[in-house]
Amino acid sequence: MKKIVVLTGAGMSAESGINTFRDSGGLWEQYRVEDVASIEGYIRDPELVINFYNERRKQLLSVKPNRGHELVAALEQYFDVTVVTQNVDDLHERAGSSDIIHLHGELMKVTSSRSPNDPRQIQTLQPDHMEIHVGDKAPDGSQLRPFIVWFGEAVPKIEDAVEAVMKADICIVIGTSLNVYPAAGLVRYVPDDSPIYLIDPADVAWTAMRPYTHIKKGASAGMEELFEKLKNEC
Ligand code: OAD
Repeated sequence: MKKIVVLTGAGMSAESGINTFRDSGGLWEQYRVEDVASIEGYIRDPELVINFYNERRKQLLSVKPNRGHELVAALEQYFDVTVVTQNVDDLHERAGSSDIIHLHGELMKVTSSRSPNDPRQIQTLQPDHMEIHVGDKAPDGSQLRPFIVWFGEAVPKIEDAVEAVMKADICIVIGTSLNVYPAAGLVRYVPDDSPIYLIDPADVAWTAMRPYTHIKKGASAGMEELFEKLKNEC
């Protein structure tokens, strides 16, 4: 079976009703990224940051995977698929994808402020208990915090992602402005003779010195087109 690596960003979930970050009306127009998505912001005002992610988590209950997520999952009928996502939602999981690397963390999980990447500290929240508060403690006794990789923090999953991308026979990039590193640098690890498809309704600042095929559509329509093509080629 050929291997496909799908790299996804906020545009993947846009048609599910989750705002992107940098489009007009995006989250970073409503909030200052340095306040709610940086380690310095968290240290300055933990309550603001914890509440911001409580709100994001609540929103997750009211959305569902779109056709794009479903077709990414359906690729597994024909290919060995790894999804590398910058998204913290769980829509790839809910659509049925089985191998997912969350580069920027997971909204439904919380962890310790002292050792955020220690697996013993990471807990999954349940729909009937979605909020955390200042004063809630992780198993190690430190403040419980969202399991999110903030600006200023290491991205521990990047090595797994690089390893997957280096094995890709085909790479599909969906809905990311490729502004945030190290995620944006992953396309450089795609082997030279493996094609790259980009699904995004807008032009993207592509800095990797290699060709790609741009399907200038949203995630669902773009995946419909690409799914048919790849299915017939495999
Ligand atoms: P951005 O908001 O930067 O980019 C979203 C991309 O999705 C843009 O290229 C849009 O054109 C595209 N898009 C919009 N609607 C779409 C649709 N219906 N179908 C497909 N694509 C669509 O989001 P990311 O690149 O994911 O990190 O942002 C990367 C990181 O920056 C995030 O993970 C987050 C943010 O700060 C953290 O918070 C740590």
